[in-house]
Amino acid sequence: MAFHLIIYLYSILQWILDKLLSPIPPPPHAQLHRPRIAVIGAGLTGVSSASHCVGHGFDVTIFEAGDEKSLGGIWAKVNNTSGLQIHSIMYRFHPSVKWSSGYPDRQQVVSQITQLWKRYGLQERTKFNTRVTSVSKDKQGRWIINDPSNGRFDGVMAAVGTCGDPKIPHIQGQENFQGEIYHSSKLDGKTAEGKKVLVVGGGASAVEALEFVVHTGAKSTSVLARSEKWIIPRNAIIDTLLAFNIFGEETVFSWIPESLLRIFFYRDLDDLAPPAGTGGLFTGTPMVNSDIFHQIRVGKAEWLRGDIQAFTENGIRFNHRARGVPKGGPGRESVIEGDMVIMATGFQRPSLAFLPDEVFQEPYQPPNWYLQCFPPEHMSVCANNCTYVNAIGTVGNYHIGIYTRLLLMFLVDPLARPQEYWMKRWIDMTRTLKSFAPTGAFDFFTYSELMYWFVFCVVINPFRWKWALFVFFGIGEALPLSVVKEEERFRNGLGMKRRYHE
Ligand SMILES: Cc1cc2nc3c(=O)[nH]c(=O)nc-3n(C[C@H](O)[C@H](O)[C@H](O)COP(=O)(O)OP(=O)(O)OC[C@H]3O[C@@H](n4cnc5c(N)ncnc54)[C@H](O)[C@@H]3O)c2cc1C
Ligand SMILES: NC(=O)c1ccc[n+]([C@@H]2O[C@H](COP(=O)([O-])OP(=O)(O)OC[C@H]3O[C@@H](n4cnc5c(N)ncnc54)[C@H](OP(=O)(O)O)[C@@H]3O)[C@@H](O)[C@H]2O)c1
Repeated sequence: MAFHLIIYLYSILQWILDKLLSPIPPPPHAQLHRPRIAVIGAGLTGVSSASHCVGHGFDVTIFEAGDEKSLGGIWAKVNNTSGLQIHSIMYRFHPSVKWSSGYPDRQQVVSQITQLWKRYGLQERTKFNTRVTSVSKDKQGRWIINDPSNGRFDGVMAAVGTCGDPKIPHIQGQENFQGEIYHSSKLDGKTAEGKKVLVVGGGASAVEALEFVVHTGAKSTSVLARSEKWIIPRNAIIDTLLAFNIFGEETVFSWIPESLLRIFFYRDLDDLAPPAGTGGLFTGTPMVNSDIFHQIRVGKAEWLRGDIQAFTENGIRFNHRARGVPKGGPGRESVIEGDMVIMATGFQRPSLAFLPDEVFQEPYQPPNWYLQCFPPEHMSVCANNCTYVNAIGTVGNYHIGIYTRLLLMFLVDPLARPQEYWMKRWIDMTRTLKSFAPTGAFDFFTYSELMYWFVFCVVINPFRWKWALFVFFGIGEALPLSVVKEEERFRNGLGMKRRYHE
């Protein structure tokens, strides 16, 4: 009863968010006259960004390297059993998204992305099988994507994600192994029933693989993890509270959430938590899961810390390390037998090398960009959701719209545009503020820090105040646009030309 009530209230909340905050889709085949944006990638970030653009009257073309089956990006490529670990309330990548459960699976995520793509008429604005290899400027300063036949653009939204092709390291002796080896994203149609399974890796995919094999009836499951990583509960309130750390780094208070997690979540399995003085909670992306400790407690799985030495014919030679001993350090070697090995070793990071060379110059190379995603040399380029390294928060959330609308504001309002000099000073300032962080200033952030950056970006410049509602909520663009028109008329009177680009 209580569950149904919560789901009902959740649906109402989503309906209200949609009505209040979703931009109105353009009519079919509408000619959109505002600046043109090239969106690179048709994952949830690309589709969401493009729908915000067309909803506000900006023309877009989405360039997607894969074919139509790639719509949805990484979610189109992973296992059917994959699903959200964080609660879907933290995974609202567009205001019109409607989740029917707290933890949707892969198909539900892809379906929401596809519906959004259709709702905003993006079918006619998407070029599949078009990998972007170069982004350069013509003489008028407009962007050319690969070659001029693709058109010219005023802005570029790079949305290539962080998970490209599966990463499968070659491990010594692999060819001698008599059992099966699969990447963690290629488990559809496989079964672990009655098998001894070894999972290589200790990230979110390892946790997911563990759940998969345990639920298909594996005889035993051992996760072979070489690094210490935090695991946090699958609980929307706790996860949101952790993302509330506005400093976006380890602070003198980090021992509080760390101790609470040890006492109330790890409990008897405290040995699996990173020891004090090594990786703090606010240094790396934690894994979100509540089931795994249960599986370990009931003896269905084990989590082993150490280094893989080599494959043998019937398993993996593994160097078990004690808690706190660093990677490659001394330990006790043994062969762990297995019939099936799942390489949960991650994904290649998609390249941003198509962007002009100047955006990669130290010390302002990604992720060290303005608000982490605008290279200071080109404010008309936004690399949305694809420059981050580690974070507590979520990739598919509200900020996709905020970043997109910042780009739109920069394109249409010359007075609101950031100057290269000030973008670099903001990066320097953030580095100074986070100089005590154990990670690089932009190598870790929390969702609150991200929100603080946006607020600061708008509050600091009086010419952006009129855009505040639009940037944060996507509403009220008529007022700033009319002000910009007046300013333009004034500038034209002074003989200055209208320019969308830098
Ligand atoms: C199994 C799994 C579960 C996950 N669960 C969560 C979760 O619970 N919470 C969370 O926050 N995140 C999660 N993630 C992370 C996930 O990557 C993001 O949530 C999100 O889906 C990323 O979307 P994206 O659009 O930014 O990138 P992607 O989905 O990776 O899409 C990028 C697209 O860009 C295309 N592309 C790349 N390069 C080019 C190019 N040069 N030219 C043209 N096209 C190009 C690719 O083909 C791809 O279609 C999960 C990831 C995996 C693998
Ligand atoms: N449902 C979910 O929430 C979910 C599920 C899957 C993935 N994701 C997301 O997808 C992204 C990728 O996650 P992922 O787990 O696939 O990759 P990942 O986070 O990069 O983790 C890869 C793991 O493999 C280990 N590894 C790599 N090479 C190894 C080798 N040669 N020997 C031993 N271990 C090796 C790594 O150890 P080191 O750390 O020491 O390098 C790491 O523990 C993340 O953003 C993650 O949050 C989310």
